[in-house]
This record gives sequence, structure tokens and C-alpha cells, in this order.
Amino acid sequence: MAHAVQGIVAKGKGLPVELTTILVPDPGPGEALVKVQACGVCHTDLHYREGGINDEFPFLLGHEAAGIVEAVGPDVVNVKPGDFVVLNWRAVCGTCRSCLRGKPNLCFNTFNATQKMTLEDGTPLSAALGIGAFAEKTLVAAGQCTPVNPDAKPEVAGLLGCGVMAGIGAAMLTGEVQRGDSVAVFGCGGVGNAAIAGAKLAGATTIIAVDLDDRKLEWAKQFGATHTVNGSQSDPVAEIQAATGGNGADVCIEAVGHPEVLRQAFYARDLAGTVVQVGVPTPTMTMPDIPMIDFFGRGGQLKPSWYGDCLPSRDFPMLIELHLQGRLPLEDFVTETIGLGDVEDAFHKMERGEVLRSVVVI
Ligand SMILES: NC(=O)c1ccc[n+]([C@@H]2O[C@H](COP(=O)([O-])OP(=O)(O)OC[C@H]3O[C@@H](n4cnc5c(N)ncnc54)[C@H](O)[C@@H]3O)[C@@H](O)[C@H]2O)c1
Ligand SMILES: [Zn+2]
Ligand SMILES: [Zn+2]
Repeated sequence: MAHAVQGIVAKGKGLPVELTTILVPDPGPGEALVKVQACGVCHTDLHYREGGINDEFPFLLGHEAAGIVEAVGPDVVNVKPGDFVVLNWRAVCGTCRSCLRGKPNLCFNTFNATQKMTLEDGTPLSAALGIGAFAEKTLVAAGQCTPVNPDAKPEVAGLLGCGVMAGIGAAMLTGEVQRGDSVAVFGCGGVGNAAIAGAKLAGATTIIAVDLDDRKLEWAKQFGATHTVNGSQSDPVAEIQAATGGNGADVCIEAVGHPEVLRQAFYARDLAGTVVQVGVPTPTMTMPDIPMIDFFGRGGQLKPSWYGDCLPSRDFPMLIELHLQGRLPLEDFVTETIGLGDVEDAFHKMERGEVLRSVVVI
């Protein structure tokens, strides 16, 4: 039996999203039906709405969510009805080349639900990042459900499902920030500020936040930035060099998704330093035109970071515990809680820079 519930659907490129009835199938083998309690609004949802990811409209948006498992398919063993879970977009397969090499955090063959959720007329929906959680219920692969301590609030826990995990992981896992490192973070939205929080947790002593918006830089200080640079007023590369004894930062994290920002991150880095690209580019963007001798001559590493290279089963429960112990202020990412019908409005607030995260609470 399909469940008729309300969900937020993007029907075409650039069109305002609509609250509409969707049909969610009962879980089949390997699947779980989840009653969504909270789902954050991530910039990637807006990228989908703008056709910046692919053109497989209509999309069921939302992918940064927590909820309660309502039902599971016949063979599911990792979760059961009643479990409090954070949804993830890295349900590892265990058998691909990367999993077999002992690197499931880079799994090349992640799972999503096999059955499609649909509009009432049967049109299949593409679920954002294989999740689609701006909905009262969603259908996912059981491996996309990570049980965590139910003492955490859903609107806070769900943030680990995408942007906050991506940011923390960009610093701690991809960037491998060490105690005493200097770190520069470009773009201080939910992802960038999470990278700042991750750099602080890892023991970085100099954390330089770069944004074009002073409100974002104020938030960045709350999360642990020791220096801030408004890139519309001064040159971030020169400012970062000045804050690091003229050398540049050990780790530069690009959390915008723009070639010019990648160029800045590249040149703001110390010799043998690391650039982490966590911001998502659009399909038409190209790498900045950088002399190859600069790439070779500076050494170090340029590393794209999908989902902060996280392993949800290892990292979500651990980060929730750190949060419950007061060591990771996840609640500070929640600027506002909103209803399902307010997602379009939340996109505009995000574009105007008014929020770190608007979180839909159902
Ligand atoms: N790699 C991943 O796994 C992953 C996961 C989630 C989100 N993302 C991506 O991360 C990026 C950030 O997401 P978000 O939710 O934090 O978005 P956001 O819109 O909340 O934040 C982006 C920030 O970048 C700032 N900015 C824009 N242009 C800038 C510039 N030239 N220099 C400095 N700062 C600038 C904006 O003022 C804003 O504060 C997006 O591209 C998103 O798609 C990636
Ligand atoms: Zn795999
Ligand atoms: Zn996201």
C-alpha cells in the first residue's frame, strides 16, 4: 500500500517549489519507510531546483533529515521500527573496489531505495541525493538510516545528514587538520561554519573565516574563527598570509563552489599544504587557469570532499555524543525552524544570507 503524504517537489528548472501530495510505497527488500521529523534546507536543494545538478525533474527535495523508522522490508537487520535515525546518502555496498580495499567511506556503489516515490498521477520522483525528506514520510535504502542517541533533538541531529557532516569532515577527515594547524575556510554558510567547528575540534590554533557577508563572519567567530576576512573588501590571499606569518594556511577549505574561490584557496595555502574542495560547482564551471608550475612547485594536495569523506555508521553516533556532551554546538546552526510549506521562502533567505540553516520541522 502506498502512503499519500505531503512533500516539497521541484517540477522544473527555476520554478518555485510546490507542496504537493506524493505517494510513498511500503518498504520492499532492503528498504525502510521513515517518518521524517526534521529536515534542513541545504544549498544543494537549491542547486537541484535550479537544474544545477541534473535535469531529472521532478525532484522530491530535502536530504538533511532525522526521523523515526516506521517500517522495514523483510530482510532488513540494521534498523527496526521505532529507531531514531539520521538519514545519510552514503549507504555503503561492502563489495565495490573501494569497500574491498577497506575504504567504505569512499564507497563507489552506494544504495538508495529501489522503488520510486511518485506524484499522484504516477510520475516517478527523483529524490534529492536519494533521500527526498521534505516530506512527511520517505522511502530509503535501510543502509541510509543511521541510528543515533535519541536524546538529541531531530532538528539538530538531522543536520549531520549532509551539510554539517560535509563541513566537519572536510576539515577533520579530508583535510586531516592536526593540532596546531592553521586553517582557512572560504564561504561560511552551514558547510563552511561546520568546517570551522571541525577545525576547532581537531585542535587548529589559527582559523581564518572568509565570506562576503559580515553576518556570516560573526557566526564564524561563534564557531571558532580566530580571524575573519570580508572578501568583498580585501584580498583573502593577502589577509590569510598576513595571519599566518606570511606563509599561508596549512589547510584551505573551499565551501562555496566557485572557480575564483578555488583559485584563492590554492594561493592562500602554505607550501605542501592541502586544499579541500567541498563546495559543489555547476556543470559548466571549469578549473581556474593556474600555471602548472604553481601546482607542481607548491607541492601538497588538492582534495575534493564528498560528504566530508564520512562513514555515517562510524561518524554520526560519535558526533551526536560529542554534541550531547556540549563539545559540538550543533544547535547554533539552526537559525530558524519552519514548516514544510516554507521551503521556497527559506531558499530566498539563504540567497539573501539571512540564515545558516532553516530546518523544516514536521
Ligand atoms: N561536498 C559535499 O558533500 C557537500 C555537501 C553539502 C553542501 N555542499 C555544498 O557546499 C556549498 C555551501 O553550502 P551551504 O549550505 O553552506 O551554502 P550557503 O549558501 O549557506 O553558504 C555559502 C556561503 O558562501 C559565501 N560566498 C559566496 N561567494 C563567496 C565568495 N566569492 N567568497 C567567499 N564567500 C562566498 C556566501 O556568502 C555564503 O555565506 C554549496 O555549494 C553546497 O552545494 C557540498
Ligand atoms: Zn562500496
Ligand atoms: Zn546537502
